[in-house]
Amino acid sequence: MSKLICICNRVTEQEVAKVVSRYPQAELQDVINLTAASSSCGRCKTELEDVFNNLKALHSRQKNGAQLYIPFDFSRSLE
Ligand code: FES
Repeated sequence: MSKLICICNRVTEQEVAKVVSRYPQAELQDVINLTAASSSCGRCKTELEDVFNNLKALHSRQKNGAQLYIPFDFSRSLE
């Protein structure tokens, strides 16, 4: 089960990873637009940024030959 990042909009780490995987050039605002994370009370913004930055760094390392391992499945699709 993926970690819930945004309680207001029920956005998980898995969904953020899915955006980063599908759209490698995505910026944080793109993640917010696509998932609605951090678009209500905003309390999750710092954690969302941390997760996003970590995933972008992992994705970048993968592009440079490292293996990317995201420890969850992608069963929940984006709307
Ligand atoms: S917890 Fe994410 S907007 Fe409220």
